[in-house]
Amino acid sequence: MGTTKKKTGRNAPCPCGSGRKYKQCCLKKPQSAESTAEHYLRKYKIRLKSPKDIEGIRRCGDLVMATFDEVTKILVPGTTTEAINTLVHDFTVQHGAQPAPLHFNGFPKSVCTSVNHVVCHGIPGPYILKDGDILDVDITTILNGYYADCNQTFFIGTPSPEAARLVAITRECLKRGKDMAKPGNTIGDIGWAIQRYAEAQGCSVVRQLVGHGVGFDFHEPPEVPHFGKRGHGVPIVPGMVFTIEPMINLGTHHVRTLDDHWTVVTKDGSLSAQFEQTFAITEDGCESLTPFEL
Ligand code: MF3
Ligand code: CO
Ligand code: CO
Repeated sequence: MGTTKKKTGRNAPCPCGSGRKYKQCCLKKPQSAESTAEHYLRKYKIRLKSPKDIEGIRRCGDLVMATFDEVTKILVPGTTTEAINTLVHDFTVQHGAQPAPLHFNGFPKSVCTSVNHVVCHGIPGPYILKDGDILDVDITTILNGYYADCNQTFFIGTPSPEAARLVAITRECLKRGKDMAKPGNTIGDIGWAIQRYAEAQGCSVVRQLVGHGVGFDFHEPPEVPHFGKRGHGVPIVPGMVFTIEPMINLGTHHVRTLDDHWTVVTKDGSLSAQFEQTFAITEDGCESLTPFEL
């Protein structure tokens, strides 16, 4: 004898207790089917963002870009990096937001300012900007609990031809990384495209620092390396929000950290540039939540 258990009719109430017809509930969506959001959280610890979350990060990104508009006004020879810090701090707080770097893992200031051979995480201070410097300004803001992260390398006065070339190459690296940031590709495709271009131009890609998920926190999974292999890494899906932030050197890729425990410099003293945006993955590509021309 077989069992006497009856088969649930298509129009009967669903056995899961939802109150809906079986055919409109678990018959078409087996209980075991995991949503993409649940799958990404369990497998990769990645928190996908809802349209409402993305709107919150976009508003934060708008404030970051308004802050850049103020910063660019004082990027001239004679300005100190401390003055940039004061401007970023005050402007951010005046708009009801917080500068994320301040006290982050003990970081002492509200913005990162990285001059010439400084790769990233430069601490603002008494340094006086001079004609020909290149300066990366990295602004991360928290607005209504949402984080947006963006950096740009600027010329102070007139750049040397080699500095101008490095900065143009680095901007193009971010553009090529962004173009890979779409469903159907993987995180590895982004780094692959960046590394291939940078090295073809005779530059090198910093390995020790990477892009990252962002939005609910400063740094979330996944890591987004700016080097790597095609098809490797997490498959990109709508709702992911992460940065791409290539650091490109004129010399070798090797870096070291100064005794202040923050300032990262090139080992060979060569120039380094960086550009960063926060991207939200859409159905067919990505949207920059901290947009500037690439
Ligand atoms: N904004 C940097 C990034 O792009 C992180 C800076 S951490 C700080 O991830 F503490 F130095 F601010
Ligand atoms: Co970042
Ligand atoms: Co940043």
